Amino acid sequence: MSTESHKLCMIPGPVEFHEDVLGAMSTPATSHVDPGFIQTFGEVLEGLRRVVATKDGQPFVVSGSGTLSWDLAVCNIIEAGDRVLVVNTGLFGDRMAECLEVFGAVVTTVRADRLGQAPNASAVGEVLAAAAREGRPYKMITITQVDTSTGVLADVKGIATVARNASPGTLVAVDGVCSIAAEELYMDDWGIDVIMTASQKALGTPPGLAIIVVSQRTLDAWRNRKSKVVGYFAAWSKWLPVMQAYEERRPLYFATPAVQLIMALRVGIQQLLDRGMDAVFQAHHQASADFKAYITDSLGLTLLPVTDDVAAHSMTAIYYPEGVKASDLLPRLTEHGVVVAGGLHPDLATRYFRVGHMGLTVLEPQRRYLETTKDALGTSLAEAGYKPSA
Ligand SMILES: Cc1ncc(COP(=O)(O)O)c(C=O)c1O
Repeated sequence: MSTESHKLCMIPGPVEFHEDVLGAMSTPATSHVDPGFIQTFGEVLEGLRRVVATKDGQPFVVSGSGTLSWDLAVCNIIEAGDRVLVVNTGLFGDRMAECLEVFGAVVTTVRADRLGQAPNASAVGEVLAAAAREGRPYKMITITQVDTSTGVLADVKGIATVARNASPGTLVAVDGVCSIAAEELYMDDWGIDVIMTASQKALGTPPGLAIIVVSQRTLDAWRNRKSKVVGYFAAWSKWLPVMQAYEERRPLYFATPAVQLIMALRVGIQQLLDRGMDAVFQAHHQASADFKAYITDSLGLTLLPVTDDVAAHSMTAIYYPEGVKASDLLPRLTEHGVVVAGGLHPDLATRYFRVGHMGLTVLEPQRRYLETTKDALGTSLAEAGYKPSA
């Protein structure tokens, strides 16, 4: 597709890519054990540690999408019969439970009273504490930091803190596919054991890389497991030596890495680190506040998350106004050069749409990605017959 006909990709990932990231992919065939590539891969692993603020967390970067990052974590950590608590704020919580069960976990779910809310940390703490008191502690708790189906932000820091107090042996795992490098997360300070993410969202790189970072105590749990890992491509026994080799700038092969995507990810990560992660988080906060104010105050629309404190900064989920349907709005937006995403949660799918604002789209405000999106939204809604009440 020519870039002239390119429409702004304002969905909650993949996001718009920087030309330097794309340039890094337009490179000649390169061996995955080429010394230059080994250096690049090593820098990616070191850079990821800085993105999630960990000294000794172990990153793994493997070809695949975000969903593979779940397999990559779950199949290595979970043994049949392990109890896992899933904090559910939308569809990705449902799917996480499904994934855990595939590997034999016994799942309990905590959720808020209705979609658009998030369970509070103390409620989660009580469930963990009760299980620990009964002598049946949870092996792991999973939290979707931003559930992309609802735009709900979970209180990862609060939940991780109560989890450490209520059930110290429980591993704290975060699905950060729609949040890493957009929402604050400090792995060591917050006591996070497992982060699962992917290349195509706030890391600003095309889709195709599954990424996890795990704590040393998670690796210990894996080393001490009683049963064999059910998995071949995703087995840490295959990948850990490879990741260690790249960091030590040595060649080692298990399965061919996506060479050009790794080159692109190095650029994406470097752009974030050059800016500084706190500045990156701040840019997402600012862009999100500005965009949401336009949606609610200027357009008079309602957000799916019920309160500001549970609204993601990486994306916005918005109800269609009365009388406007997906088919009235989304094609018009596309005509005005902006692609957004429809609803995803099956309970509400026809009633809302979603806009992503992460990575380049907020880090380079002078490119006017969000301004163009706001203009297109206002115009398309007017064309669909909607008038904001004065
Ligand atoms: C929160 C969350 N988790 C997991 C996934 C799955 O990632 P992928 O589609 O890259 O497999 C997504 C995808 O959007 C997501 O938003």
